[in-house]
Amino acid sequence: MKRPTLEWSDKFLIGIEELDYEHHCLVDDINKLHRELAGRKGADKDIELIKDTLGEIHARMQAHFALEEHVMEADAYPHYWEHKAEHEKLLDDYTEFMTKFERDPNMDDQEAMEDTLRLWIVDHIIASDKKMSRMIKDANK
Ligand SMILES: [Fe+2]
Ligand SMILES: [Fe+2]
Repeated sequence: MKRPTLEWSDKFLIGIEELDYEHHCLVDDINKLHRELAGRKGADKDIELIKDTLGEIHARMQAHFALEEHVMEADAYPHYWEHKAEHEKLLDDYTEFMTKFERDPNMDDQEAMEDTLRLWIVDHIIASDKKMSRMIKDANK
């Protein structure tokens, strides 16, 4: 089954400019990974390209979570620990995918892992990040 790319839309906006910008970059990266996974023919250069993209997403996720946690701490967000735990789980799941891919680039559960990444975008940004932004804004009114 061929999945469509993930369309960026205003529904992802949480209203904190620098975080919105990073979310948009992450969506772009996930789409890049999706295209590379779908288009690969098994050649070494295809695999290397995917490994590079996986590494870029990992670095971007880590930096993004750190910035977001900094924003939450600075505003004494009451659900900080809960939110941070979600980030850690996402990063763990993702790291497991990266490791599996490095061991076996032909593994057959890529679709499941792509779904995990997409679920993160859809669920975590729309639910948890939006809630955080709303509560921080309300507290600063
Ligand atoms: Fe986020
Ligand atoms: Fe978050």
